[in-house]
Amino acid sequence: MALRSNPKYTVPGLDVAEAGELIDILQLRLHALNDLHLTLKHIHWNVVGPHFIAVHEMIDPQVEKVRGMADEVAERAAALGGVSHGTPGVLVAARTWEDYSVGRADALAHLGALDVVYTGLIEDVRKAVERTGRVDPATQDLLIGQLRDLEKFQWFVRAHLETAGGALRTGDAGTETEAARQAVR
Ligand SMILES: [Fe+2]
Repeated sequence: MALRSNPKYTVPGLDVAEAGELIDILQLRLHALNDLHLTLKHIHWNVVGPHFIAVHEMIDPQVEKVRGMADEVAERAAALGGVSHGTPGVLVAARTWEDYSVGRADALAHLGALDVVYTGLIEDVRKAVERTGRVDPATQDLLIGQLRDLEKFQWFVRAHLETAGGALRTGDAGTETEAARQAVR
């Protein structure tokens, strides 16, 4: 995904080519965060079963925090001289991942699938941290803070999937559907 941002100016000390690369990285992070907070609300609305209220109520603070992260990322891109695309059509055309695949389902099934969502997203944030660090520690610092919070949210999810022996009951699942199935076994 290369949008090839072409800023006319940027922050002091960076050149516009470097800023363009950073803005492209931030744009994909923005898409991932916008996708995530919508997906989290989808789970909030479609979770059922004995653990309904725990999961329903756990999700909303994550939605608020992830919306805040999207705002930070978009505004960092603006400060770098870029344009941030926040519309659904641009998101769907640019994203490198599939739409969330679970509808109305048991709370643990959603958490199994959400763990897979967080894994993909967090791996991408880590790569973005590495790439931005070569050029701009200020952007890297923003992403590092978000990485830490996202890893905490994944821990909240994983704690529900953990056995007394310390393993994840979805341990070898590679897809949302498979993780959802294994979580309720
Ligand atoms: Fe609600």
